[in-house]
Amino acid sequence: TYGGAPSGGRGGFPAVRPRRLRTTPAMRRMVAEHRLHPAELILPAFVREGITEPVGISSMPGVYQHTRDSLRKAAAEAVAAGVGGIMLFGVPEDGRKDAVGSPGTDPDGILQVALRDVRAEVGDDLVVMSDLCLDEFTDHGHCGVLDERGRVDNDATLERYAEMACVQAEAGAHVLGPSGMMDGQIGFVRRALDEAGHQDVSLLAYTAKYASAFYGPFREAVNSSLRGDRRTYQQDPANARESMRELELDIAEGADMVMVKPAMPYLDVLCRIADAVDVPVAAYQISGEYAMVEAAAERGWIDRDAAIMETLTGVKRAGANLILTYWATEVARRLS
Ligand code: PBG
Repeated sequence: TYGGAPSGGRGGFPAVRPRRLRTTPAMRRMVAEHRLHPAELILPAFVREGITEPVGISSMPGVYQHTRDSLRKAAAEAVAAGVGGIMLFGVPEDGRKDAVGSPGTDPDGILQVALRDVRAEVGDDLVVMSDLCLDEFTDHGHCGVLDERGRVDNDATLERYAEMACVQAEAGAHVLGPSGMMDGQIGFVRRALDEAGHQDVSLLAYTAKYASAFYGPFREAVNSSLRGDRRTYQQDPANARESMRELELDIAEGADMVMVKPAMPYLDVLCRIADAVDVPVAAYQISGEYAMVEAAAERGWIDRDAAIMETLTGVKRAGANLILTYWATEVARRLS
């Protein structure tokens, strides 16, 4: 125990001096408890149908809606930087959206096309993931299909996710990320994949996904049609214990990896989940977290590069093995 440690040195000055281990950069590097590695970073990327030039996202400076070509380039750059994975989001042409999110299950839908493109580019050198959710594809912008009263219909949505999962697996995804927060989605999708012969495709469960104000910029990134909010399916920011229940269910249903999202406002949840499981734990540093740092840095209010590294280190320290971040390629380059 620490009870016997000398508390007073010569003349009453401290005998124990934690500052000794902070004296030089080499010393600090040696005793660092956590360090980032490019392989644990995952780059979320947007690909938009029907554009010929990448379109900048104004609320996320430096992030683009990619063309098919520029997405391939971004994937190749991620590989070169040693990034671990890429998570793809598809943005269909507006006129294609409908009530059930048809472009999400069309084998020629933008996300499926992009999956094939990226796999052709990177093969198995990068873990290729796709968002398994309907919100980018529905004309009402919700993550599922609606019942006759306009509520998100859990079980009808599961049927759509099952179909979507098989189409994405067929297109070459290594990992699917069901992000819609429907009850039973991991088990339902797992079974559909297995029945279709896709036993090798992994599931990264969005286990604790909160109804967050920090998704704001993402809505621009995917040209979201949503009015209202997602509070009947995403979790209430007031709840942490509830995440442990979601965790138990996802693990029981066959999740290969679990995720907490957003990252920074939920580090306590991340820490609890990381302590409780023996599968890899991911954290998603989301659009609003990215935008906050970029906006403050642009005004000269914070040191951009230092702030980026500090946020990522904090997420790692809280227990994440994997971090989804829009800075993945940039940070991977800086690390190597
Ligand atoms: C749902 C989804 C969202 C994000 C990832 N998957 C939006 C939402 O739940 O409203 C947000 C990611 C971010 O903000 O960076 N398909």
